[in-house]
Parts: sequence; C-alpha cells; structure tokens
Amino acid sequence: MAVSGVLLVLFIIAHMAGNLHVFEGPEEMNAYAHGLRTFGEPLLPHETLLWIMRLGLIAAAVAHIASAIVLTRRAARARPVRYAHRRPARGESRHAAATMRWGGVVIVFFLVWHLLDLTFRTVNPVKDAPDAYGAVVASFTPERWPVTVLYLLAVIALGFHLRHGIWSAVQTIAGPDHKWRKRTQIIALAVAVIVSAGFAIVPLAVTFGLVS
Ligand code: HEM
Repeated sequence: MAVSGVLLVLFIIAHMAGNLHVFEGPEEMNAYAHGLRTFGEPLLPHETLLWIMRLGLIAAAVAHIASAIVLTRRAARARPVRYAHRRPARGESRHAAATMRWGGVVIVFFLVWHLLDLTFRTVNPVKDAPDAYGAVVASFTPERWPVTVLYLLAVIALGFHLRHGIWSAVQTIAGPDHKWRKRTQIIALAVAVIVSAGFAIVPLAVTFGLVS
C-alpha cells in the first residue's frame, strides 16, 4: 500500500507542477507536453518515457487498490465480531478509513472522466483537440463551470486522501509511537493543501478568465 502510494504521490506532484505551465502560455505548455512524448528521441522510440510512466502508473494503481482490498479483508477477519462501542483508534478517527475508501472511489471515477476529457479528448468540447493547452482551456471554459466544480470536488477528495495516506504510510514504516508524529501530521497536511490548491488553480483560472 505504502510503496504504490509513494509512486502515485510522486506522479501527482509532478503532474500538478507540470500543469502550472498553463500560466506561461500555449507555447510553453504544449512544448512541455511535446517534450514528454519526444524525450530521448531519436535514441528511444516516440513516447517511450510516457509509456514507461503509464505502465508504472497502472501497476501502482492496481497494486494500491488490491492492497486496500486485502488489508480491509484482513482487518475484518481479525475482528469478525464488531465492537459494541466503536471507539476511535488512537490519533486518528475511524471515519478516516471510510473517507479513504470513498475518497479512493471518487478519485477513480474522476480519473475516468479526466482521461476522456484531457487525454483522449472524447468528452472535450474541442473533439480531438490537438494541443494540451487548447484542451484545458476548452474544458474549463466559463459555460462549463460544472466541469470545474467536478474537478474541484475531486481535488479536495484527493487532498483528504493524500493527508491520511501520507500519515498512514509513515505510521506503517516508523511504527505507531515514533517521535515525529506531530511533524508527520503537519507535513501530510501541507502536501495535501499544496497539491489540492496547485491542481485547483488551473480550472479556476480558466473559468474566471485569467487563462484563455
Ligand atoms: C485538476 C486539474 C488537472 C488538470 C488541469 C490536468 C490536466 C491534464 C492534462 C492536460 C492531461 C493530458 C496531458 C497530455 O496529453 O499531454 C492530463 C493527463 C492525465 N492526468 Fe491530469 N490534470 C488534473 C488533475 C489530475 C489529477 C488530480 C490526477 C490524478 C489523481 C490526474 C491524472 C492524470 C493522468 C493519469 C493522466 C494521463 C497521463 C497520460 O498517460 O497521458 N490529473 N491531465
């Protein structure tokens, strides 16, 4: 769970930072997207880096979801009779587990829409938009504000997921009573806020006309 989570977090941070090229204008953003496809050419075939990243992402996502299912089942087997009084576990509330599960489901549904919107561009208003910048601007145009709202909800869900996920990963690795508990909580919150805000700012900027 933790290892696949770390890979996914690294991708998410890189993707969030990459998206900010939109503020530099169409040339820079499209050059960045193009650079991801042509990296290593002519030594490497077209889109080698992109496909390594895609395969790594798919493997990490499958491992992450599979471990979540295995761990949930294991926890249920370890305690087949439910607690009469549900008391929060130390340092975290039980509803964090439900938030993780439902947050994960929201992220998966969001990703299906997101890939159709900005990678395959089939639900994008500009069908088969040739460039990443054009697709982003078309997707979050003011008339399509519900799409922006959808993205905002998804990145908020992602923020909650990241905060608890980073916290849990450190607990798993360092043990429940390590001395950096407070620091871990602050770092997890900071990463979650920066990532959510960094993603959210792009659709918001287009919808409010700052990027067009
Ligand atoms: C909220 C703002 C977001 C924006 C503006 C955005 C933008 C984009 C764009 C433009 C692409 C296509 C890149 C290209 O074809 O060159 C893309 C692809 C992708 N995005 Fe996002 N994204 C956002 C959020 C997210 C989030 C939150 C996730 C993950 C949880 C995510 C995961 C992906 C994935 C997996 C791809 C496919 C990469 C590929 O294989 O080509 N994105 N995104």
